[in-house]
Amino acid sequence: PVPIIIDCDPGHDDALAIMLAAADPAIDLLAITTVAGNQTLEKTTLNARRVCTIAGITDVPVAAGCARPLLQPLAVADDVHGASGLDGPRFPEPTVDVVPEHAVELIHRILLEHPEPVTLVPTAPLTNIALLLTRHPDSAARIREIVLMGGSTERGNRTPAAEFNIMTDPEAADIVFRSGVPLTMCGLNVTHQALATPEIRARFDGLGTELGQVCSELLAFFASTYSRLWGMPHPPLHDPVAVARVIDPAIVDVVDANVTVELHGRYTRGATVVDLHRYLDRPVNARVAVRLDTEWFWDRMVTAVEVLGSR
Ligand code: BDR
Ligand code: CA
Repeated sequence: PVPIIIDCDPGHDDALAIMLAAADPAIDLLAITTVAGNQTLEKTTLNARRVCTIAGITDVPVAAGCARPLLQPLAVADDVHGASGLDGPRFPEPTVDVVPEHAVELIHRILLEHPEPVTLVPTAPLTNIALLLTRHPDSAARIREIVLMGGSTERGNRTPAAEFNIMTDPEAADIVFRSGVPLTMCGLNVTHQALATPEIRARFDGLGTELGQVCSELLAFFASTYSRLWGMPHPPLHDPVAVARVIDPAIVDVVDANVTVELHGRYTRGATVVDLHRYLDRPVNARVAVRLDTEWFWDRMVTAVEVLGSR
């Protein structure tokens, strides 16, 4: 299995990304770290503990990281994920606790201690990862790859040009994209291929487990916000796509490209400028996801919830 650390801000889709990473036999989940994004750090960390508790993920350390972006103030996505960051289901009081170590220090320690290079899977603003790379430059050589959910080859979902994870901390994203660490970007152009239709929700219900029910309720809430905010009848399940790419690279097709994070544009700050057609004379710094095998994706996602829910 591929050793990974998931850095997240749960978040409905982050919750399912955690479950996929914890259950799939192709992955060895070494840690779950949290950052401010969809909600405050306090809430995303509580939500990570809630997800671990309800899914029976008790053997993976959870650590809290940065509470605000590097330069700009935090702007949460309560319009998308609700006041709790994980609105919809009722969660029991979490029994899984956080470890008393800052996420950035935990990631650094694991990178140095693990016998093989580790893949980082950020599904949130890149604040923790940027801090890791700047505070601990020896980390870079120990990272096998960064496979992130963020950006887009097309338009944004936070501003006309910018996707939420990049827009929340553009300076952090810029540091990560310029780091030279092998990087795969799973942006909106590919995550919008992972649509949670009512048929998909019925598959989670059909598992007949409490966890299947919770996932169905998470997707129902997510569907209501996507329909209200974007007129999309089926919500895209962004974050698990990055995990899927690690599970089996053949499931997510990529193309090599130069990606630059726009920091200064008056209307385009936070945009990922993806040079698919090599207009600019700039080196390739990313693999950019362009196509998802959706049938495979949902089979593996539903199986993960089935496995966790019945153990
Ligand atoms: C990203 O933004 C967050 O709201 C989601 O959890 C996902 O990581 C999609 O733009
Ligand atoms: Ca997220």
